[in-house]
Parts: sequence; structure tokens; C-alpha cells
Amino acid sequence: MKLDNILYGGDYNPEQWLNQKDILEQDIEYMKRAGINTVSLGIFAWSMLEKQEGVYDFSWLRERIDKLYENGISTILATPSGARPKWLADKYNEVLRVDRSRKRQLFGGRHNHCYTSPIYRKKVFNINTALAKEFGNDEAVILWHISNEYGGECHCPLCQDAFREWLYNRYKDINELNEAWCTAFWSHRYDTFEQIESPSDIGETGIHALNLEWKRFVTEQTKDFIEHEIKAIRQYSDKPTTINMMYNYLGLDYSKLADSVDIISWDSYPVWHKKSDIKTAFDNSFWHDYMRSLKRKPFLLMESSPSATNWQGVSKLKRPGLLTSASLQAIAHGSDSVMYFQIRKSRGGFEKFHGAVIDHSLSDDTRVFKEVKSIGESLCSLREIIGTQTKSDIAIICDTESRWALDDSMGPRNDGIYQYESMQKSYRALKMQGINIDIIEQTADFSPYKLIVAPVLYMFKDGVYDKIRKYVSKGGCFVFSYFSGIVDKYDRCYLGKVPYGLEEVFGLYKEETDSLYDNTYNIVEAEDFLKKSYSCDKLCDLLIVEGAEILGKYTKDFYKGSPALTKNKYLSGLAYYIAADMEEDFYIDFYKRLIDELDIPRICKGDIPENIEVSTRVGKEYEYIFVHNFSDNTVDISSMQLSAELLYGNNESILNEYKTNIYKRRL
Ligand code: GLA
Ligand code: ZN
Repeated sequence: MKLDNILYGGDYNPEQWLNQKDILEQDIEYMKRAGINTVSLGIFAWSMLEKQEGVYDFSWLRERIDKLYENGISTILATPSGARPKWLADKYNEVLRVDRSRKRQLFGGRHNHCYTSPIYRKKVFNINTALAKEFGNDEAVILWHISNEYGGECHCPLCQDAFREWLYNRYKDINELNEAWCTAFWSHRYDTFEQIESPSDIGETGIHALNLEWKRFVTEQTKDFIEHEIKAIRQYSDKPTTINMMYNYLGLDYSKLADSVDIISWDSYPVWHKKSDIKTAFDNSFWHDYMRSLKRKPFLLMESSPSATNWQGVSKLKRPGLLTSASLQAIAHGSDSVMYFQIRKSRGGFEKFHGAVIDHSLSDDTRVFKEVKSIGESLCSLREIIGTQTKSDIAIICDTESRWALDDSMGPRNDGIYQYESMQKSYRALKMQGINIDIIEQTADFSPYKLIVAPVLYMFKDGVYDKIRKYVSKGGCFVFSYFSGIVDKYDRCYLGKVPYGLEEVFGLYKEETDSLYDNTYNIVEAEDFLKKSYSCDKLCDLLIVEGAEILGKYTKDFYKGSPALTKNKYLSGLAYYIAADMEEDFYIDFYKRLIDELDIPRICKGDIPENIEVSTRVGKEYEYIFVHNFSDNTVDISSMQLSAELLYGNNESILNEYKTNIYKRRL
């Protein structure tokens, strides 16, 4: 998709206002005032597009699309499968989901369809075909928004059959499945594929391989559904497609869905002003980086709230300036859009208190509208950034399947392994060094990176230990942390030393893992290496070192004096092992030193002050440097020594609260 502007706009639901022409006119007027150039239409509009089975009435949609386009606003057109009309659910019960306890849902809410049901697939195919025929080549339509936030699972008889068939195609022989799933445990042997049931709270949850395979099936069935939707569209339209993904969503393995669509997009709703905003900002940018890394290409921010959400525990308003910084942060990490949920706040229903560009007051003289408008103006001056890429020397592995397996594991610490927090600690520490980071799955190509960090990579997919060995042998630096390389893709423990297959590469193996009670700690002494000692908690691997250099040791408990941090030179590369869940400061000091040693270039020469986030995008002639202040203090950023021209912002070296500067530097 070739863009002339950074896409600016959001979800728009004129179908809620068709009887109020004055509102529809005001929408367009206000959108123009705010600099909005794109809306997402039709996301939950099925019941207004097909009021009776097979009778399509797209007239209102046609009128809206045309009117918007006359006023300079393009459409991202959605397929309506995210919520179905009541007649459809009433007539064809099979389209409704069955939950884990085998209860069929009633009509209601949204996102509760069965993705296997032939009838649902047919009805979706038909309406998508009709939409594509009507709008698929329209100049006004720039992108297909396939459904909305795919997610959830269905356990109906149709899905059970599809699951069994899927398993049959994978294993062919039931004995192979029994072997892979370790079903002799607790007498769970299956005699036939027909006996297999999806996991259920009233049935089976203890066969970890079953849980994993079910999740894989749900992803593949969803992927198949997405492709089915797109197939309908492709009969009449070549316009690109996207699906809007979610924050830290573990219901699907997004890495498997990425190649089914042309563009990655996602919906970002951070919980601001609760804990430290810079931490929230890093947590948010982690997911921007994840989304960009799925295709290693610019993505779209499809939704964000112009103000508070209505579904978080506390709907805190965004302080002045934060919306601008959060929007520019998306651009900084590779988005070519800033889109909101939603343009106009609905009058009734579940989301009537969700932040929107246009509020119930009907006024454009609101704090939120004014900030939205000023962002619109700013984005116009940033057009040259569209399509520029992100270059990263460093990747963190955030592997969905490994996370599934780890979440399922009974022991070693059922009170929480905190793998997510561990990833975040590494991410923050690396970002504080002023570098770009890719977030990848373990199956991704390792070759672009000088440093790969794998926090608690519990599961190895086929061949991954060989891949790590090759990566290190050719000069890469790989950092593992505790409890890694323990199980195979069926969640079966490896027989042999762990991290499996990497004894030589790391010069060690893990013999045991100690679990620490909440609020208890060990201390790792790393005086020679980092001039400090650090506390660690939750999990402590006890290592047997065979050749690795010991950089840190435990100082407490019966394993006092044994290694807790190691480094091994393996052929041309380096392999580090962090044996415990270390405190934040450790990661900051460790990665600072590592980046120096590996000579990985930083974005700026000088020190980055607290609460500041830096990242870059690179075009043909220029590099663009984004500096955000995610705090309510004024920060002097002159220490960073950014020798670059200011493209956006008020002052080169001072950033006021929640402000962003963007610089450009000729390559
Ligand atoms: C999601 C959905 C939207 C809306 C917003 C509210 O992202 O896709 O339809 O419900 O949440 O934050
Ligand atoms: Zn189903």
C-alpha cells in the first residue's frame, strides 16, 4: 500500500446514527477540522447490511463512503464477521460458540462465532463477496479490515471433529500421538482419534501436549477462517488486507497469522498513570516492536483511545500531551498510522463511556478534540517518515508457543514464574541504552542480529538448539536465562542435559532449579564483572559449569558460592547464562556492558536521562530519531548529544512533560 499521508482517524460507526443526519454531517465537519483522513467502517454493521437473509442493502454505506471521500477521508472497510445479526444466530444455532464447559452460548455480545461452522463460513463468504463486488475497486477504499480482533475458541461438535481430523493429519497413527503426548501417565491412552476431546474444565486439562495441540489447532482454524474471508474478497478486489491484533494476546499465535494478511495492525490501550509511565511506555513499545517484527515492515496502529477506555479497572484520563507522545511513539516504532477507537462516542450500549474524538457534548471545543486536532496537524509535517524502516541489531525472543507451555507447567513455581516481567526487564534495560529492538519468535531468522536475548525460553521447537549453536558459532551473542530449553514441542521434558543440545555452547548444564517463596531473595555477587551484587528471586537454576567463565555467584542458601552468571566463548561467538530472576538493576548494568563489549551502535553518543525513550526509523537519505519524555517533569536532554536537525518539537534540548522531539540526520 502506497500512502501519501500518515493514516489518521479511527473506527467510525455511522450505522448508529443513520436517523440523525445532523450528526452525520457534523462528523464529517469535525473530522476535517481534526485533520482526519481515514476511517474504519462497517466493523460491527452486519445487522444493518443484511437485515434479512440474503437481502443486502449497502445504500447507507455507499452514501457514507462517498460522502467521506468527497471530503478527503478514505475508508478502511471491514468485513462484518465480528458480530452477527440475531436472525442468523436464531436460524442457525451452530454458528454460536460452545465454551470449554461444553455450554452453547446464546446470541449476544460479539466475537462469539464458531469458526468451523460451514453455515457461518458460507454466510460470511456471501456478505464479503457482496461487499467486495460493491466496494472492492472503489478509490475510496484503501484497505480491508478482516473481521475484528480475532480471538477465543469454540468447543462445539463441529470443532471437535475438525480437531480430530487435524490431529489425524498430523500423526496418522494413534500410537504416535500417545507416545508424543505421554498418555501412559494417569492412564490416558487413546485407542482412536475419535476418542479425543478438546481440553475442558470438566474434563481433561492435565495432558499438556493436548492443551498445546489444541491451541495450535485454534490458531490454524482461525487462520483458515481468515483466509476463507479473504478468498471471498479476492474474487473482486486486490486491495490489501489486515487483521487488528491485540496486546499480549495469548489466545492465538500471531506469528502464524502474519503471512495470511498484507499488513499487520494492532490495537494499543496501555494503562497509563498507574505505575511509572516510562515503564508503561516501554511495555507498549515492546508490542509495537513485536507487531513490526512479524513482517519486519511498517505496521498500522489501528486503534487507541483518544482519552480513557471504559473497560480498564479504572478509566483514568490521559494527561495533556500524553496522547500526542503515545501516538508519536507508535510512529517511532514503525507505524504508518495513528487511529483511534472511536470517532464518535456511542449513545448507548457497552461502550458509551469509552473515549472518542467526538464526545456526547457535541462540541469540538473539548480538551481531547483539541489535542486530536493538533496531532492531525503534526502528522502532516511527518509525511517523509512514511514507509521508512527500523533497523535493529538486537532481538528478544518472545515465543508464543513457549509461553503457552510455560503457563501450563505445574511447577517449579505455581505462584508465578513471571516470565513476562523477565522479558520486560531485559527489554527496558536494552531500550535504556538507546537502541532499537526486534521482538521475534524462536523460528524467526537470527541472521540480522548481533545479540539475541531469550528470557526463559522454556520450550524448544524442532531444530532450535541447532539454530542457536550455529548462530553462536558464526559470531552471534546469545543470552539465556533460567529454566530454558527444558521441553520439546510436545511439552515433553528432554532426556539429557538442559538447556538441551547446548552444553558445549554454554559450557554448562542446569542440574536443578530452586523456587523461592514470595518476598525471599538470594544475592548474586558479580563484583569482578559488574562491580556490584544484586538480589534475585523466584527461580534460581543450580548450574554445573564445564568450561564457562563464572561472572557471578550465589551468596546464600546451600548453593552459596555456586555459579549464577556465566559467559562462554564458543567458536566465533559468545553465550551468556543468567541463572536466576535478577533485579532490574542487574539487567541495566549487564546490558550496558554487553553492548559496549559487542560494540553495538547506540542511537546517541551521550547518556539518556531517566524517563526518556529513544528509537529510530531509517529512510533512503535520512535517519529519524524520536525522543519521548514519558514523565510529568521537564527533562534536559542535552546529555544525549544528538547531533541532528529538529524536525518536530519546540526546543532541541529540553523536553517538557509528555513531549516528543523528532530529529533527522542525513545518512
Ligand atoms: C477493542 C475493539 C473495539 C473496542 C475497543 C475499546 O480494541 O476492537 O471494537 O471495543 O476495544 O477499547
Ligand atoms: Zn465450533
